[in-house]
Amino acid sequence: MNEHAPIGIFDSGLGGLTVFEEVRKLLPQENLVYIADSAFAPYGDKDSTTIAQRAWLLADFLTQTQDVKALVVACNTASAAAILALRERLDIPVVAMEPAIKPAVDVTDTGVVGVLATENTLKSDKFSSLLDTHQHRARIMVQPCFGLVEAIEKGAMNLESTRQLVLKYVQPMLEEGADTIVLGCTHYPLLEPVIRKLVGEQVHIISTGAAVAKRLQNQLDAKGILNRQAELGKESFWTSGEQGYVSDMASLLCQREMVFKSLPETHETIIVEFTLEKKQHRLFQALLQGEDGLAFVRCVHGVQQLWTTSSQIDALKDWLKCLSKSFNLCIVQEYVWTGE
Ligand code: DGL
Repeated sequence: MNEHAPIGIFDSGLGGLTVFEEVRKLLPQENLVYIADSAFAPYGDKDSTTIAQRAWLLADFLTQTQDVKALVVACNTASAAAILALRERLDIPVVAMEPAIKPAVDVTDTGVVGVLATENTLKSDKFSSLLDTHQHRARIMVQPCFGLVEAIEKGAMNLESTRQLVLKYVQPMLEEGADTIVLGCTHYPLLEPVIRKLVGEQVHIISTGAAVAKRLQNQLDAKGILNRQAELGKESFWTSGEQGYVSDMASLLCQREMVFKSLPETHETIIVEFTLEKKQHRLFQALLQGEDGLAFVRCVHGVQQLWTTSSQIDALKDWLKCLSKSFNLCIVQEYVWTGE
């Protein structure tokens, strides 16, 4: 693996820039590629299959076209939905996010910790096992924060309506004696000044960006692929959303110019519809799972679909050809979906 290759970082939108900036600070020589998947934000209210598909497509773009040497999933929600599949499929270091419950439990004096996160993060198996590990040491109150990601994506951090929303979420925690608040979504550090004003100086507010940057550094170092070039690393920014708007918002939030490009059209999802006898579905799915990263099966309005990316379509077709006889699998139609 080439140490000069970039590091890929993605999020549903602008929140992951809080992680990006920590990585930039700790590893100034690294080349970085960031994707804001703004056309699909927020992830917090999407079903986990959709989030896993998005994560896979973005990871595919980063590995196939940008040749990244490591991936940072700068999104708690996507980490919860997709990290196992990503780690299975990719042969590069993949660093994920999770709400910083351990440091919070270590630091609390009152023994009450509040966690703010998206609903999907909080209801994930990954979060349940994190809770199980730590909840004997403190009372952990969790709060899904509907509306906060949308407010941040609109740059509405300082609106009274946003302040009211944050108040609604943190007040019950403070009333129960919480002295530590975990920001379990990478968007929320962008609201830290608002949260700080509401909770006061004595409450610990914990986010994860710096720790993730450190973990990334350790993993690159362990693999001998830290970039030790003399000059500062390059940066590029991509989005599935409206690039002018995303560039303006990102530049505003990070207080420096960030120019986003549109994710290229060649990065499409190719959908193949097929029919298969019902009793064969499970076997087919099991075989497909063995084919790392080839495609997903999705049932849309009762129609079985295989979703893959342009870079995998030939391999998928070869695989289907081999299977079609024994499975009596019939390709009904094939088309390209670009996200609209
Ligand atoms: N920034 C994300 C997270 O850390 C995603 C939020 C969303 O899109 O709902 O969870």
